Amino acid sequence: MTNKNFIDSNDFTKKELMDIVNLSLVLKKCIKTGYYPQLLKNKTLGMIFQQSSTRTRVSFETAMEQLGGHAQYLAPGQIQLGGHETIEDTSRVLSRLVDIIMARVDRHKSVADLAEHATIPVINAMSDYNHPTQEMGDIITMIEHLPEGKRLEDCKVVFVGDATQVCASLGFITTKMGMSFAHFGPKGFQLKDHHIQIMEENCKVSGGSFLITDNADEALKDADFVYTDVWYGLYDAELSEEDRLAIFYPKYQVTMELMKKAKPGAKFMHCLPATRNEEVTDEVIDSDFSIVFDEAENRLTAMRGLLVYFLGIDQPDEGKIAEVKFELNNVLAKVFQPEKELVGV
Ligand code: CP
Repeated sequence: MTNKNFIDSNDFTKKELMDIVNLSLVLKKCIKTGYYPQLLKNKTLGMIFQQSSTRTRVSFETAMEQLGGHAQYLAPGQIQLGGHETIEDTSRVLSRLVDIIMARVDRHKSVADLAEHATIPVINAMSDYNHPTQEMGDIITMIEHLPEGKRLEDCKVVFVGDATQVCASLGFITTKMGMSFAHFGPKGFQLKDHHIQIMEENCKVSGGSFLITDNADEALKDADFVYTDVWYGLYDAELSEEDRLAIFYPKYQVTMELMKKAKPGAKFMHCLPATRNEEVTDEVIDSDFSIVFDEAENRLTAMRGLLVYFLGIDQPDEGKIAEVKFELNNVLAKVFQPEKELVGV
């Protein structure tokens, strides 16, 4: 493993990301079959949240539980994180108390700093820059819903609407995988130069491509997956909801009409939570071609794979274990049965 943390999918090669995907898929198969491999027995995950969450929180906690571990929910405002105690010190302390950390933060620097100072793995559970665990669940969902006869690399994915961190993440992972990505969004709310630079680098290696446009026909043409996210409420406080609505509605709402511009049989995706009848109509999100709930379930699929990948497999030293067992039995005997003779290992 080249990197102990999962802060940005761009820190990993396509092969490494596919290793995590394949691990996630086989663990999903095991659990669907009723076999719960206890790979995370005795492991504890510290879950830092600066914001609320349904999918991320529940999927991390369930994944730990299913694989024999335990998770501690550190709610918004419940722990020191760059307040009275520095992020550096919090990282060092948590590194002594738990085995792995996940953090959903207001600012990307917070999770990057946590990772830099922690001696244990840190997983980015969403920042204002990206949402890499969402990316992994999304790729898994696309693999499960590949159009007949197509490979991931043959597919086109379109993100409709605001250049949220989910949009950036989708651009990163699809171009990393060698897919074709389009962002259909209004000027001023499109992916920026720094995103473009990363996608260009990814495409050079993977053979993928990307397009950023405010032309619906161009963006949606031949799309296999159409994806959207909320129009407001994330980080931009400069514009009111009314102002943002006026920018995105109706052109960027995913409707049946818009879906008709994509390839026949194209699937609809959304990271959720959705603001129904704003960025997507009920008709689309509740349609047969909507895979949003598979996508939500695959957050859990991805978390299992990520947790096992970054925690690794324990390889206990049986000789050392025998030594400490002997020492423990000795101390226990002295405390509770002082009259008993010490027995060897
Ligand atoms: N998609 C996503 O991250 O959902 P939550 O905010 O509920 O975790």
